Amino acid sequence: MDRIRIVGGNPLNGVIPISGAKNAALPLMIASLLTDRTVTLENLPRLADVSLLVRILSNHGVDYSIDGRRQGEDPDSGQTVHMTAREIVDTTAPYDLVSRMRASFWVLAPLLARIGEARVSLPGGCAIGTRPVDLLLMAMERLGASIDIDAGYVVAKAPKGLRGAEIVFPKVTVGGTHVALMAAALAEGTTVLHNAAREPEIGDLAELLVKMGARIRGAGSSVIEIDGVARLGGAKHRVLPDRIETGTYAMAAAMTGGDVLLQGACAEHLQAALDALVQAGAQVESTPDGVRVMRNGGPIRPVDIVTAPFPGFPTDLQAQFMALMTRAQGVSRITEKIFENRFMHVQELARFGAHIRLEGDSAIVEGVPVLKGAPVMATDLRASVSLVIAALAADGESMIQRVYHLDRGFEALERKLSRCGADVTRISSGG
Ligand code: UD1
Repeated sequence: MDRIRIVGGNPLNGVIPISGAKNAALPLMIASLLTDRTVTLENLPRLADVSLLVRILSNHGVDYSIDGRRQGEDPDSGQTVHMTAREIVDTTAPYDLVSRMRASFWVLAPLLARIGEARVSLPGGCAIGTRPVDLLLMAMERLGASIDIDAGYVVAKAPKGLRGAEIVFPKVTVGGTHVALMAAALAEGTTVLHNAAREPEIGDLAELLVKMGARIRGAGSSVIEIDGVARLGGAKHRVLPDRIETGTYAMAAAMTGGDVLLQGACAEHLQAALDALVQAGAQVESTPDGVRVMRNGGPIRPVDIVTAPFPGFPTDLQAQFMALMTRAQGVSRITEKIFENRFMHVQELARFGAHIRLEGDSAIVEGVPVLKGAPVMATDLRASVSLVIAALAADGESMIQRVYHLDRGFEALERKLSRCGADVTRISSGG
């Protein structure tokens, strides 16, 4: 298994190109199941999760081709892929694939909408109560599907097609909104989603669906109306920039000091996180080329944050912000309201010498003047990159194990950081 070695202490200076958003790429790719025509996606990031989803979709009958790299092209520029599901050849999404990536559960919606049945493993093989998909299933039932659970699989059927309906989400859910949008696009009649998620990735999916011929109003607000159509066609779409990758490198720059341009990033997609960074003492500038983040010499100030659905502070940046706060001059409180127990990184950050105490759904972080390099273990995607941020500012060497978590969501992480002056090396399992 690969490891990443980081020798901390260097400020970050330079340009970091921001990749296409993983959390947009996945639903956009899944939407290709809705049509027998070709969906072309540009700026698709090169990530382990994207490759895994290609395997899952090809099981269902999606043909996939990827444009070759042009001469002189930046190795980190996104790829252009063409996906065509001329025919759905299999309606089962098996356990061994779905268990590795929760978002693959979302294939349920296009399969159901297009051919009236789907058999999809519950994600992670866990009971619905512990990793819930209840709201996704509620949405499909409201659209007229019958749902049964059989031996760890969700069996969904709508032999006469789906019918438009009012769907009220009791809690904001990104996945629930994605699946409802996809299914309602091909349902008969009008669907109204209430308390829909407003994340930019929802807007990106809606944009692709509209290009495919869907009739959608209000994406980006909490009420979305969809008039179903009988069929959808092909389309070409560019994946929006990754706001979580942007926020991660913004926090890394604030942590180490320096001056970094996050090329192609869109400030409005992560205003809450950028505001928190400014309060913490960084300077943030939105430019035509992207977002510039600087911290030159001044102290890191403590800032309290509470995670919330968009436009609030994103849960996917909570661990990274906590890493920054470990070096603040004072005490900060970081409250996690989206996912329970999303504090796996706390014990690993403590290995660098951070002082963090858990209190219910909050972490109380008492800033320390110095972090010390340490061997640490990545536990999940976002937690693992918080360890990278801590290591970049720590004295001496850190070794991060289990970096396959990083490869799921961060394209060319070590290359992007090294180019800005960080001392980061990947040690592959053979080396
Ligand atoms: C997506 C993102 C993930 C991000 C999360 C919240 C992708 C691929 N993943 O995940 O990176 O952290 O949004 O911004 O886009 N819930 C239920 N029942 C359900 C579904 C969700 O109770 O049926 C709960 C969840 O446990 C959680 C909350 O709703 O507490 C929000 O989850 P949700 O927005 O659905 O997250 P995902 O779509 O899985």
